[in-house]
Order: sequence, then C-alpha cells, then structure tokens
Amino acid sequence: MAARRSIGIVINGVTGRMGYRQHLVRSLLAIREQGGVALPGGGHIWPEPILVGRDPDKLAAIAARHGLTEWTTDLDAALARPDVEVYFDAQVTQRREKAIRHAISAGKHVYTEKPLAESSAAAEELAELARAAGVRNGVVQDKLFLPGLRKLKRLIDGGFFGRILSVRGEFGYWVFEGDWQAAQRPSWNYRLADGGGIVMDMFPHWNYLLEELFGAVRGVQATIATHIETRVDERGDEYTADADDAAYAIFELEGGVIAQINSSWAVRVNRDELVEFQVDGVLGSAVAGLRGCKIQHRATTPKPVWNPDLPLSGRSFRDEWTEVPDNDEFDNGFKVQWEAFLRHVVAGEAFHWDFASGTRGVRLAEAGLRSAREGRRIELGNA
Ligand SMILES: NC(=O)c1ccc[n+]([C@@H]2O[C@H](COP(=O)([O-])OP(=O)(O)OC[C@H]3O[C@@H](n4cnc5c(N)ncnc54)[C@H](O)[C@@H]3O)[C@@H](O)[C@H]2O)c1
Repeated sequence: MAARRSIGIVINGVTGRMGYRQHLVRSLLAIREQGGVALPGGGHIWPEPILVGRDPDKLAAIAARHGLTEWTTDLDAALARPDVEVYFDAQVTQRREKAIRHAISAGKHVYTEKPLAESSAAAEELAELARAAGVRNGVVQDKLFLPGLRKLKRLIDGGFFGRILSVRGEFGYWVFEGDWQAAQRPSWNYRLADGGGIVMDMFPHWNYLLEELFGAVRGVQATIATHIETRVDERGDEYTADADDAAYAIFELEGGVIAQINSSWAVRVNRDELVEFQVDGVLGSAVAGLRGCKIQHRATTPKPVWNPDLPLSGRSFRDEWTEVPDNDEFDNGFKVQWEAFLRHVVAGEAFHWDFASGTRGVRLAEAGLRSAREGRRIELGNA
C-alpha cells in the first residue's frame, strides 16, 4: 500500500460559517473520504484536523459529530505541537493578523481565509514575516475554482473573445435586517468596529479574479453606501449598521479592459445567479456565474434597432445565448485549492495564491474605500 503522509492542520474559527462547512466538512473531511490527496511520486497526504476556537462545547460537538478527537481553545498549545505543520485561519477578519503572527513565529505554514489582514500595511508585514521565516503561505481564492468562472477562463484561453473590452459584474442579494426574518449573514459584517463592510469583504475577491482573468487592477473609482442603517443581531438586539453594505466600482485594468462591479447586500436578485460577470469582446461575449456560462458569438449577435414604439413581439434577448458545456468534472472550489496548498507544502508544487497576492487584494479594498472617501479615482502601483 502506498505511504500515507499525515499532516496536522490547526483549523481556527472552525465553528464559523466558512470554517465549518467549506473548510472542515467540504474540504478537509472530504479529502479524507476520498482517501487523501495523491502525491506526484505516489502516496497520499492525509490531513489531521486540530479544531481550535473559543467555545469548548461547540468544538467538542463538532469533533464528536465527525469522529475527530483533537480540539482545544488554546491556540498556542496547538501551535506548539510538533505534528502540526499548517495553521489555517477562518476566524473573523479582525483576529486573523495576531493569530497568523503566532503561527509564523511557531514555524508553521499558513493558509487563511481572505482578507489576509485589515490593512495593506499589516498584510505586507505578514507576507514579509512569512518570507523571512521560510514558511509556505496561501490565501483562499475560491471564486477562481467555480465552474462558471473556470468555463470563462477556458473561453479566454481559447481566444473566444478576441480583444476584450469590458467586464460587468453584479454581485449581491438581500441580507435580511434581522427584525422579522433572521439575517443570513453574521452581524459583525455590518459593524465597522468589528471589521465589517462589503468592500473589505468582496474587493479581495474581485482583485484576484480580475488579475487572473483579465489583467492587474491599475485604478479604481468607487462609491459606497450604507443603505440599511439599523439591523438586529444574533441575540435579537437592534444595532447600528455603520459598515458599507454596497459598493459601486469601476476598475481599470492593465491592458485596457474596463471592469465595473456592483456589490450589494441590499439588492434583490433578478439574475440567474448570485454573482454574474458579463464579458464583451470584439469577437463574442459571455455571461458567467457560479455554475453556468453562456456565450453569444459575433456571428449570432442580433441587430436590435432602438424603437420604443415597436413591441419586441415575443422575442427574448436572453434566449439568444448558448450554454457552454461543462466538459469536465468540477469539484468544490475550496477543496481544490486546499489540495493544491497541501501539495505545495508537502511536495513543493507551485502555488501562486500566496500572501503577496492576498496583500494586493487588501490594497485594492483600501484603495476602494479611499476613493469613496475622497471622491476620486485612486491609482494602484501593483507591480
Ligand atoms: N471565501 C469566501 O467566500 C468567504 C465567504 C464568507 C466569509 N469569508 C471570510 O471568512 C472569515 C469568517 O467569516 P464567516 O462568515 O465564517 O464568519 P462567522 O461569524 O460565521 O465565523 C467567525 C469565526 O470566528 C470566531 N470568532 C473569533 N472571534 C470572534 C468575535 N469576536 N466575534 C465573532 N466571531 C469570532 C467565531 O467563533 C467563528 O468560528 C472572514 O474573514 C470572512 O472574510 C470568506
């Protein structure tokens, strides 16, 4: 039987939405169910999760539910274990920097949810500390692995668009205020003092998506809003929501593509998916979502003529697009990136979704907030 290479992974913030469902259950435990991560030279990487959090009852319950035995509320004790090689952080953003500093000084490789830190200065410092300590590092960039966006990437790589002109992104849905229906997102997201705000949450995603698909972001102009100013928290108490819950932004990309992305937790969905990107190129266009991707080629582009006096006579522009076939099996995006990170740690495979990339994401969020505050376009020197 091929060798099993066990690797201890501290998973901090495992009681949270992302920590539990996407990272523990859908990634690390799913990897165990499939028999580990295959190594290029034979054998398998076998993740051994060590659950870390603040509430012992919740940790014990999660461990019991999944047949795990290792959990603790003492992060430093977990980091002192010689069998622990990787620290993973899915805590609220505000607690991340301090914990990652501890992990790096304990000599552990670090993988983390985005945003890497609350400020670009802090993110840069973490990148530098990790480099100096020689620990491998990575930041979650799950959207790159969504089926719809992988199909979009395939179209780009295949030259479908010709010269790409623009990208229009629409992200968002109605997040309930919490008064007559419970909010479906944690309340800290809506308080500035707790590290909330849609710009800090979503611009790191937009940065790596734009950078990998269309070109690095060179300039941003954003208008932000706090549309819903009062919300009700998990305990039923009313609070002032002072963090931005919508951002309307234009990104100028290297190579000339213009991307315009609306991000909002105060919008009702009239789209096929919760996020959609329309890409227009000289030879064709595409609309990609989480799962689907449809195209319209230059040769099948209809020729509408503007005449408000004429009805469209049953015609639907949406029906004149063609679905792109999967042609592949798409696994959970979080899991795919975990597998790549573990191969990076154990087998030294290349992995470019690192702290440097995570830092660029935080820098874009900061620039977006500054643009909104100062009412002007901000240039980024992301070289
Ligand atoms: N990649 C993505 O698509 C994606 C999506 C949502 C959130 N995130 C990121 O994941 C991280 C966690 O977000 P989440 O939605 O899972 O949040 P959550 O509130 O569900 O979980 C937060 C976790 O941090 C812990 N925590 C520590 N200190 C806390 C405090 N003072 N208040 C509240 N919780 C505290 C909680 O116990 C919990 O385990 C954030 O950094 C967020 O930006 C990423």
